[in-house]
Amino acid sequence: MSEAVSSDTPASEKKLNRRVTALAVVAAIGGFLFGFDSSVINGAVNSIGKEFDIPDAASGIVVASALIGCAVGAYLGGRFADRWGRIRVMVIAAILFLASSILAGLAFATWDFIIWRLVGGLGIGIASVIAPAYISEVSPKGIRGRLGSFQQLAITLGIFAALGSDQLFAVIGGSADGMIGPFPAWRWMFLVGVIPSVVYGILALRLPESPRYLAGEGRRDEARDVLKQIVPTETVETNLHDIEDAIKKEAALTKKSSIRGPRFGLQPIVWVGIILAIFQQFVGINVIFYYSTTLWQAVGFKESQSFLISTITSVVNVAVTFVAIALVDRVGRRPMLLAGSIGMTISLAFMAISFSQSHMVNGSPQLPGAWGPIALVAANIFVISFGATWGPLMWVLLGEMFPPTIRAAALGIGSSANWIANFVVTVAFPALAAVSLSLSYGIFALFAFLSLIFVYFKIKETKGRSLEEMGADAVPASA
Ligand code: GLC
Repeated sequence: MSEAVSSDTPASEKKLNRRVTALAVVAAIGGFLFGFDSSVINGAVNSIGKEFDIPDAASGIVVASALIGCAVGAYLGGRFADRWGRIRVMVIAAILFLASSILAGLAFATWDFIIWRLVGGLGIGIASVIAPAYISEVSPKGIRGRLGSFQQLAITLGIFAALGSDQLFAVIGGSADGMIGPFPAWRWMFLVGVIPSVVYGILALRLPESPRYLAGEGRRDEARDVLKQIVPTETVETNLHDIEDAIKKEAALTKKSSIRGPRFGLQPIVWVGIILAIFQQFVGINVIFYYSTTLWQAVGFKESQSFLISTITSVVNVAVTFVAIALVDRVGRRPMLLAGSIGMTISLAFMAISFSQSHMVNGSPQLPGAWGPIALVAANIFVISFGATWGPLMWVLLGEMFPPTIRAAALGIGSSANWIANFVVTVAFPALAAVSLSLSYGIFALFAFLSLIFVYFKIKETKGRSLEEMGADAVPASA
């Protein structure tokens, strides 16, 4: 059986798709670190506060310090990825995360804990850029959305794993402060991060470099070798040609292929990415994941009930990602984002209304009658609406919407904006919630509604189009 014939058959295309799927799974482990890192602090924060004698008001800074590292890491990650290639940058992210897991776990004071969380954040920020960039660059267009959604699946699994492992250590130690061998439980919560970082680093070293990066560097033969592993043999030369052509055309049009442009210093497409990334956070999703246990307690649920609710929500969050995986390459990005915005607006509005019914009973707040269950159902519908659409699709779009020569840098900026927005919401929420939970959710609902208008007018469908076709569109519009 000759190569040409066999690569024509669906069986061999399946084999190629399986191979690309395996590459996407490895790259997406970066997303697991992302989810794990952003949630691991939840179970540990009270113990850290006690151990280092941190006043309550400062604990927000301890929680959010990693997010600042993430924003910087995402910004630099895009640039490093263009300079050093995607694989090296994945390994750097793994090393930073490894160092942070060990050193934050062994921290002896608040200041060094914050420094190690920042270092870990750098790694996470880098990983948050590199996974979507790499996945979109190795994926065939017909399954690119599905494979890009693996990043979100990994993020949600990471969140769930952190919640689970925090609980496990707290149970083994008797509490988060209880001793397990030489260390208290809360230190193990960080130390266990060694496992995913080592797995990620080792597996990343086995990935082939992105053919689009190699072609951009003029490393034609290597780009061709990688393409041979991921596209049907008879299309290798056309693929290589399309990539090189897109890079040349774009460079000629923009003179210098740069993210800079006439509008407020950046190309319009870069602004679209930034605003998309900000909306994804301003609907308040991470308030659910970072503060939900406190949130449910604040409206009268007991601690154990609140923890159970948080766990259920994080499982729902994992499960709905499969909806996105199943639909994104069939239905398309735009309709899904629009549907997600509608679902989020309605569910957030219901949460705002429910929380406005809260009364004080014996000195603590309560949601009377059916309002408690309504708020709970609304919160989960919100997570479903987000997790099936905006959660994964923002990352998919950031990976595929920019022209090739600015892809990694622009993705870095968009992702960095996402982390800064995450930081803003995380830091502002406790103060806002102290004024009014209802107002907080009203604001999130407003952003969800604005996101609908934004998608309607500004987001172009990318389903089924090659990265090169989209690059060709984006450039004349912005040149
Ligand atoms: C998205 C967001 C991330 C959030 C997650 C929740 O990936 O970017 O900040 O934690 O969804 O599932």
